[in-house]
Amino acid sequence: MAVVVFGSINRDLVMRVPHLPLAGETVAATSYDLLPGGKGANQAVAAARQGVPTVMLGAVGDDAHGVAMLDALAQAGVGTGAVARLPGPTGLAHVFVSDAGENQIVIVAGANAALPAPSDFPAGAALAVAQAEVPAEAVARFLTLAREAGARTLYNAAPATAEGRAILPLADILVVNETELAFFLGEDVPEGDIALAGAARRLMARAGQWVIVTLGGAGVLAEGPDGTIRLPARAVPVVDTTGAGDTFCGVLAARLAEGETMAHALAVAVVAAGISVQRLGAAASMPTRAEVDEGLAG
Ligand code: RIB
Ligand code: NA
Repeated sequence: MAVVVFGSINRDLVMRVPHLPLAGETVAATSYDLLPGGKGANQAVAAARQGVPTVMLGAVGDDAHGVAMLDALAQAGVGTGAVARLPGPTGLAHVFVSDAGENQIVIVAGANAALPAPSDFPAGAALAVAQAEVPAEAVARFLTLAREAGARTLYNAAPATAEGRAILPLADILVVNETELAFFLGEDVPEGDIALAGAARRLMARAGQWVIVTLGGAGVLAEGPDGTIRLPARAVPVVDTTGAGDTFCGVLAARLAEGETMAHALAVAVVAAGISVQRLGAAASMPTRAEVDEGLAG
């Protein structure tokens, strides 16, 4: 297979609300959906929908949410043979999405918190992908094994945590948003592309590393061996941005696994993320390869 994702698997309990609730406020939702989520599972789905062979390494609980998530992953074409079923609950995310497209998410880690470190890395995989919703030692082990096996590593440091800092040097490709960049640098992210490129360079843990900063509706900035790549995003009507970063990471990994250049893979990933924000849900909103190709042409 081409892409191996090590990470979280959640069931997303998504409620659409007119506005996000304030402390102590009760808000009536206008809809409720149970959708596939978790940054790991989302990134695996995003990669698989590009038609690139993808395997998920993670854990679900022994409840109905776990069964639903295994089904959802398999339906998207993700290999689930190595997903552990652990006693206890599957990871859950309570997601509120407002009419303005803003969200608020509370996560219950469940089985994700008990995901053990892998003992080996699948032979022949080109790209190893991880995020920060499962134990940091397990992620470090996964990325170390991947590097030893000759795979390229992509680490999406989301959410940014103190333990995640030790993982940054293990990434060939490090993906952060502005909040995560600010967390790791310990300073506000500066305004302007030149200053932002400088901040991305300051986060580089070693020579040859790519540091990619996702900028939401403003696109992406990547700093690496080929210099600075700055791509804007098209203005689109936003319904739900949940999982937009996951769409970006999964599509980027899939296209790099196919041997595309960083510049082109980034362009494809920006288009894919732009499609995902126009639809409800995280994994549920991710585009197929045909949709992305159409978006690139348009
Ligand atoms: O990145 C989006 C994801 O974060 C959601 O699907 C939710 O499950 C949380 O893990
Ligand atoms: Na979406």
